[in-house]
Amino acid sequence: MIARNNRPTRLRTNTAMRGLVRENRLSLDGIMYPLFLVEGEQIKKEISSMKGQYVMSLDMLAGEIQELMALGIRSVLLFGEPDSKDEAGSGAYDEQGIVQKGIRLIKERFPEVLVAADVCLCQYKADGHCCFFDEAGRIRRMKTLETLNQVALSQAKAGVDMVAPSDMMDGRVGSIRESLDENGFEHVSIMAYSAKYASNMYGPFRDAVHSAPTFGDRKSYQMDYANGREAMKEMELDLLEGADILMVKPAGFYQDIIRTARDHFDVPLAAYQVSGEYAMLKNAVDAGLLNKRAILESLMALKRSGADILITYFAKELKELLGE
Ligand code: PBG
Ligand code: ZN
Repeated sequence: MIARNNRPTRLRTNTAMRGLVRENRLSLDGIMYPLFLVEGEQIKKEISSMKGQYVMSLDMLAGEIQELMALGIRSVLLFGEPDSKDEAGSGAYDEQGIVQKGIRLIKERFPEVLVAADVCLCQYKADGHCCFFDEAGRIRRMKTLETLNQVALSQAKAGVDMVAPSDMMDGRVGSIRESLDENGFEHVSIMAYSAKYASNMYGPFRDAVHSAPTFGDRKSYQMDYANGREAMKEMELDLLEGADILMVKPAGFYQDIIRTARDHFDVPLAAYQVSGEYAMLKNAVDAGLLNKRAILESLMALKRSGADILITYFAKELKELLGE
């Protein structure tokens, strides 16, 4: 109970006071930075829909990791775009695939960096979908799961610390866990994109790695954004199947989901501030419409909602903003 004469402003008198009573803090420890890898040499190409973010070839990767480490960012989430896509999505599980090579490079040269890799097929399949379909257009779940197992296994063999399945197939966490365990990779953790919505916020990412579906959309496997309760079911299933970390994606429009998940589950919770969220804020700040501290506010809001881990393209800016 509080007294009627309580004056909340007494706790806001100056910077030190505000710092003393602050409930949430942002630190680079809880930040994960996504990186986009492509084949080739001397490539560091800005993504036109995501200013300040780049796709890069492997010879540029070590420099990038050094820069991140100097800033205090120690965790990365790898995405790849292969040279050529095919029906099978074979680039996703090729031991010489772009992500597998990236994992090996980082873990050999910077073993202290935590390397996570996205597990999905959409960047690698000719049709841009995260799964296989039969002639009737139904999801071929078992075939998809077998392929996803291969993707995770190839990443584990390359030395990945954490796999992050983003496909939304039913049962994929359990299937990947089992296949990793059977092959001697019990130590590899799983961060499940558990509550991943069929969102309009992934556009810039799909531009960056050319992964937009060539027909239809992802609504038959990603979640309907009208649903909140269903996210708890997805998360519970993933936990039962062996997920170590649960994720909500996108983040900013889904803070109700983050909060409910925080109250439901006692495991680390990640929020992915996706490409569209980045593009909106970045463009508004660059255009002078918003103060750049709006970036900090967007990330603090995710912390306040209950996220432990923030996956954000603003990781580098955050270092500077935290120092101010
Ligand atoms: C692959 C994947 C996507 C994102 C992460 N993993 C795209 C999609 O589902 O279409 C989106 C990331 C972002 O927009 O920043 N399934
Ligand atoms: Zn996908």
